[in-house]
Amino acid sequence: MIVSHDIDAAVARLREGRLIVMPTETVYGLAGDACSDEAVAQIFALKGRPSFNPLIVHVRDVSVAAAYVQWNDLAARLAGAFWPGPLTLVLPRQEHCPISYLASAGGDTLAIRVPAHPVAQAVLEAFGGGIAAPSANRSGKISPTMVAHVQFEFPDRDLLILEGGACDVGIESTVVDCASGDGAVILRPGSITQEMITAQGIDVCEAAAHSGDFKSPGMLASHYAPNLAVRLNVDQVQPDEALLAFGDSPVAGAAKTLNLSESYDLVQAAGRLFAYLRELDQPSFSRIAVMPIPMEGLGVAINDRLRRAAAERS
Ligand code: TXA
Ligand code: MG
Repeated sequence: MIVSHDIDAAVARLREGRLIVMPTETVYGLAGDACSDEAVAQIFALKGRPSFNPLIVHVRDVSVAAAYVQWNDLAARLAGAFWPGPLTLVLPRQEHCPISYLASAGGDTLAIRVPAHPVAQAVLEAFGGGIAAPSANRSGKISPTMVAHVQFEFPDRDLLILEGGACDVGIESTVVDCASGDGAVILRPGSITQEMITAQGIDVCEAAAHSGDFKSPGMLASHYAPNLAVRLNVDQVQPDEALLAFGDSPVAGAAKTLNLSESYDLVQAAGRLFAYLRELDQPSFSRIAVMPIPMEGLGVAINDRLRRAAAERS
């Protein structure tokens, strides 16, 4: 791996769809172009995440944020008080939002923040667009707050790590839902506290108080299911079914076929999964039939999401 101060080299990698590690004021993030399905899929692959939790998209300022999400008064007040800084806002995606659906875990909302760290700001300024970045550790491990932690997590990877010193805050950002229509709801506590938000004259509550059956933010992903029924592991299709294929020999005879990966590439398949499910979810078809996906690497997460999509209906 390469430890560097070279912002231009890091941005060049992002433009090629490759990942970098970038410091933020909270923790180091494993970063990729948020508009690239494959870059976002690589983030999940490298972290070894067993399912697709939605990711935070980092942007340089409010104007970029407002291009991606449906901005509202609540978001403007929170951003005015705490951006740049360790506060993430969850808002509805803009229509035609170019951010990968994998960053939203297939849902209709996007988590977005403007980080305060000067290195992250320099990268965002030079890159221009949104950068998806969860903490730069392997799934289930502790978030890294120094370069040495990142090196320990990903020892033999061809990864460019931008040096940014020890992170000031050290815990992940506060995540606030601004899309519920009931004011600000804290989904994940962080260093921007409920008291600090209230002190700005903004009504805010904790997710637990807001709803008795609240699921942890990571589980919000499971709220997405297609309208159509989903049939898994198919080896033949009906003529009125839409087919989500995998591999170089798609089953013949479906009304419409989209192929997750002709070349059996699970990173490519993961990157396309949610966008293709949406595209096939049309009332003119009877069902979405899905060919088998191997249970290895990102295939575990893909099958996890497909199982949920199928279970929701039956
Ligand atoms: O401080 C941070 O936030 C760090 C640095 C790198 O910016 N990033 C980070 O990302 O912690 P990550 O992916 O590890 O955490 C994202 C959190 C998760 O709790 C996730 O469930 C929630 O944000 N989240 C992301 N998108 C969401 C959405 N659309 N709706 C609700 N929660 C969301
Ligand atoms: Mg994390």
